[in-house]
Amino acid sequence: MIRGYDADPPASAAPRAMTPRSFLLTPELAEYVRASSDPVDPVMADLIRETAEMAARGEVPGTMQIAPEQGVLMRLLTTAVGARTAIEIGTFTGFSALCIAQGLPEDGSLLCLDRSEEWTAVARRHWERAGVAGRIELRIGDALPSLRALPAEEAFDLAFVDADKTGYAAYVAELHPRVRRGGVVLLDNTLRSGRVLDPQDESDRALAELNAALAADPRWETALLPLADGLTLLRKR
Ligand SMILES: C[S@@+](CC[C@H](N)C(=O)[O-])C[C@H]1O[C@@H](n2cnc3c(N)ncnc32)[C@H](O)[C@@H]1O
Repeated sequence: MIRGYDADPPASAAPRAMTPRSFLLTPELAEYVRASSDPVDPVMADLIRETAEMAARGEVPGTMQIAPEQGVLMRLLTTAVGARTAIEIGTFTGFSALCIAQGLPEDGSLLCLDRSEEWTAVARRHWERAGVAGRIELRIGDALPSLRALPAEEAFDLAFVDADKTGYAAYVAELHPRVRRGGVVLLDNTLRSGRVLDPQDESDRALAELNAALAADPRWETALLPLADGLTLLRKR
């Protein structure tokens, strides 16, 4: 196990600045947070490193992957809510899915929706290595039609949303009937690096409006954590 994997990076590792982290934390405090939490395991560390290297070569955007400390929290939450069935919208190279899958029981299942065959090919390789590929089904295509095609019944214990920000409101609306009562939905990037206070583009505006709508929606119990780029927890009442 590697504790605070970027505290002692191998020569091939990307520079620390490439590693996603909570935007409110200094690099030193981010390192402290990681060293004071459960470690990322070697497959997680390799996936973080490989994605950072792809970003350094300009092959993928450099800011997409969730922060390591968020992955560790999501793995813990998945186990803590006793999730057996989960869904992810926005998989990329597979780090968040790996964390969720590791928190599921062996016979648990995670459905991943993403439109990129190329980026998710990296994910599949690491899921295999981690021994969780059997728990994960990946559907390639536009996420909203894929989600709408699922039966509108309470099938999921946990959901994670990390795709196009202007689509979040529709994803949450479609997830509501598909998540069991007491189930949890996690929404990534709900602080937009702080720009929800002064939206600069469509994505910022979409999240600012959704945050306000969710805070007033009695169907969900809502908590916005200032972790990483903002992680909203919704519990279905
Ligand atoms: C921020 S990345 C996800 C990062 C991932 N959760 C992780 O931790 O590595 C967003 C992903 O959403 C996918 N995506 C964006 N809009 C989408 C859509 N409308 N339908 C399906 N996938 C979409 C992109 O292909 C990309 O892989």
